[in-house]
Amino acid sequence: MCGIVAYLGENNAIPLLIDGLKRLEYRGYDSAGIAFIDKDKKLATIKRKGKIKNLEKEIKEDMFSNIGIAHTRWATHGEPNDVNAHPHTDCKGEIAVVHNGIIENFRAIKDFLIKKGHKIKTDTDTEVIAHLIEDNYRGDLLNATRMALNIVEGTYGIAVISSKEPDKIIIARNGSPIAIAQNDGNYYAASDASAIIGKSESLYYLKDKEICVMSREGLNITTLDNIPVTPEFQKIEFDLSQIEKGGFPHFMLKEIYEQPEVIMNTIRGRIDVENGDVRLNGLKDYKEWFGKDVNRIIFTACGTSWHASLIAEYLIEKLAGIPVEVEYASEFRYRNPIIDRNTAVFVITQSGETADTLAALREAKKKGANVFGICNVVGSTIARETDAGIYVHAGPEIGVASTKAFTAQIIGALLIALYLGRMRKLGYEEGKTILENLLKLPEQIQTLLKEHDKIEKIADNFRNSKNFLYLGRGLNFPIALEGALKMKEISYIHAEGYPAAEMKHGPIALIDENMPVVFVATKDSIYDKVINNIEEVKARRGKVIAIATEGDEDIRKVADFVVYVPKTIDVLVPILTVIPLQLMAYYLAVYNGCNVDQPRNLAKSVTVE
Ligand code: M6R
Repeated sequence: MCGIVAYLGENNAIPLLIDGLKRLEYRGYDSAGIAFIDKDKKLATIKRKGKIKNLEKEIKEDMFSNIGIAHTRWATHGEPNDVNAHPHTDCKGEIAVVHNGIIENFRAIKDFLIKKGHKIKTDTDTEVIAHLIEDNYRGDLLNATRMALNIVEGTYGIAVISSKEPDKIIIARNGSPIAIAQNDGNYYAASDASAIIGKSESLYYLKDKEICVMSREGLNITTLDNIPVTPEFQKIEFDLSQIEKGGFPHFMLKEIYEQPEVIMNTIRGRIDVENGDVRLNGLKDYKEWFGKDVNRIIFTACGTSWHASLIAEYLIEKLAGIPVEVEYASEFRYRNPIIDRNTAVFVITQSGETADTLAALREAKKKGANVFGICNVVGSTIARETDAGIYVHAGPEIGVASTKAFTAQIIGALLIALYLGRMRKLGYEEGKTILENLLKLPEQIQTLLKEHDKIEKIADNFRNSKNFLYLGRGLNFPIALEGALKMKEISYIHAEGYPAAEMKHGPIALIDENMPVVFVATKDSIYDKVINNIEEVKARRGKVIAIATEGDEDIRKVADFVVYVPKTIDVLVPILTVIPLQLMAYYLAVYNGCNVDQPRNLAKSVTVE
């Protein structure tokens, strides 16, 4: 949610900043802008509404500077236009700020600044930071920024430059991620590692209330209270090829096709097929507690990660016999969740930066819970703040619609369910069977992906549909929800997911010949009941697309279209059934001319509450 890049060094900052912004564009694409110190040591600012390509058109070939800051915006305060685009400047145009986060007390600060004679030009919360720095400037940019940040309330990752001190960038963080890197006299800062890859091998994520001065003398990091910080740089775990499209037209499609490999990466070094068991080093300090004391688990997450949590609930209850509850992270702290010392709280998150999930995590910790993470981004805020957990190793996910991270989250949840199960009621044979079948999944997904032509043709029949209904039962219910979410977010077609049997309690009223209904109807213990639900839809002339188990010829008699998934055991079914739904949403988005990787109004990591 908003991307920041900053550079100071030997090279021309301008192309470097634009390149960094392009890699961060998935975080927001309402507007983009840069600020740099020009040849006359003046502050220059260029900003444009819309995508980075609009900004790029304004860049002249002869523009040169070796210091600058840049921003790609996901609008929170003020509509997306040129004026509200970052960077924001002070009254004299000498100080520029880019910001990710929300300044909650900006209205009070704005009134205060206006009374003091400051000229506020935009509707944003961010602009007040530039004026506060101006107001507090007494010949020391670091100190003025510190004083400004002591006044603001809310979240921020910021970068500041000024023509008054043209060889310095001030970077600070509270709640919004900022990574810092250095290499041979070149210094970089960015909202995430993808903008830094290829420039340096390691990075340091600033911690909350830390502030960093980048200058030609190097990096100087302190806390806002001026206590020196010695940064521990960590190796960047992925390379450039992982954040490029690799021949695919969209990141989303590439990421869908990466799922077989992702599964192997999530389980690597963690499974012991012979003993039907798993090793989770990330949880080892709590092994005894999980084995003996835990009597209730709460999962909390948002969006797709919340759907993965619903699957985790099913898996843990089935394999380990521990009661599980699933909460929307955005609701968690607004009620009074009951947590005792035998309750384990798990958060699931791809980005590790989702503000609602982070707030839920902190609330759970405040109540004394041990909190564990199932997280993708290494070193992210949530990964750091949880007591322990596992990384899912899906690699960088650039498409705003989550696909491969979801699969990895389900695998992560399954590993945890097996881990807990084997300490409790799950027998060795059952564990072994699950693991043996798990190892077959990558190849089964490859087979399924070969059906892409067929799925594309099915999608073609529904180009003009305005609504979709997704129905499933048991483990396929969260998949129905996920299928509907994918359809909504990338193709802008209204879609709802329901447990199949709930249809008769309301949604059935929507069904007529114009309503496509996707049934996730694999062969399991409730298959016959789902077939009854399909009949109910057919009786009302709805169009049925069934995701079924290979070899199920009967379903052809009731469904208009069938996509088969390979046979597997029940607990692994959702990993296969979600794939045709991801592809169907993808193809419809392409048919409808939607921006698949950067759907309107969305951002990859939602770092505001
Ligand atoms: O990074 P997180 O997993 O915490 O993100 C949670 C949701 O914002 C995310 O899953 C969102 O719903 C995606 N756009 C779904 O495709």
